[in-house]
Amino acid sequence: MTPASVSAAGWDRVAQFYALQARWEVPALEVSVALADVTPIDRVLDAACGTGLWSRTLLASGAQPARLTGVDQSRKMLERASAVGSLEPVQAPLHALPFPDASFDVVALSYALHLLSHQDVAAALHELARVLAPDGRIVAVTPCEASGPLGRMISCAARIASDTRWRALGGLRPMDPAPALDATGFRVDHSERIHRGYPSWCVRARPVSARSTIEPMVGGAS
Ligand SMILES: C[S@@+](CC[C@H](N)C(=O)[O-])C[C@H]1O[C@@H](n2cnc3c(N)ncnc32)[C@H](O)[C@@H]1O
Repeated sequence: MTPASVSAAGWDRVAQFYALQARWEVPALEVSVALADVTPIDRVLDAACGTGLWSRTLLASGAQPARLTGVDQSRKMLERASAVGSLEPVQAPLHALPFPDASFDVVALSYALHLLSHQDVAAALHELARVLAPDGRIVAVTPCEASGPLGRMISCAARIASDTRWRALGGLRPMDPAPALDATGFRVDHSERIHRGYPSWCVRARPVSARSTIEPMVGGAS
């Protein structure tokens, strides 16, 4: 079972409190930014950017992309993202992005995929594949199973809550993004689990049509 997607209005209500938990996202976001390896010629899309934490982490790393666009369904989350450096905020759902084909070299998708229903995951990844350049890359961050008895109990509770009316509590439902990426025309070339902050998957993938040589897959077992 997958959770029903949380509405834009729900995220509008969360926006003012979102910064309170930011520090637990940062360790995985830093790994994800390093995987994205953004250069000054890259056009970057922070998809489901929320308050712009991935973009903030990117700019703090010293990267200066040619263009940085943040897209999200929630107006209030985007209002906060618009304070992040050069980020250009765009309000839109992931399954219907207002960008031409191949508009971006890098797509980041942090702490969002696991919130979507099965159908919405597929629709979002197909749309992100459309706007990504054929030799581009996508980096995804999602929660992974926590370690230890207490961690496993929390992951289990999040999984159960994600299918109920308390689905906002399912925000930490574990989900390995690799199978969904594989199923939608991407090839995963890096996957690792981070156990600092929120236990998280950090994955990088490229369109299967990518001209560049794909390195052997590394990581995945920490
Ligand atoms: C948990 S927050 C993550 C925000 C940010 N990426 C981060 O790492 O902090 C999830 C965000 O995904 C957005 N979102 C969820 N479903 C979406 C959809 N179908 N289309 C666009 N945005 C969506 C929400 O509005 C919210 O801002």
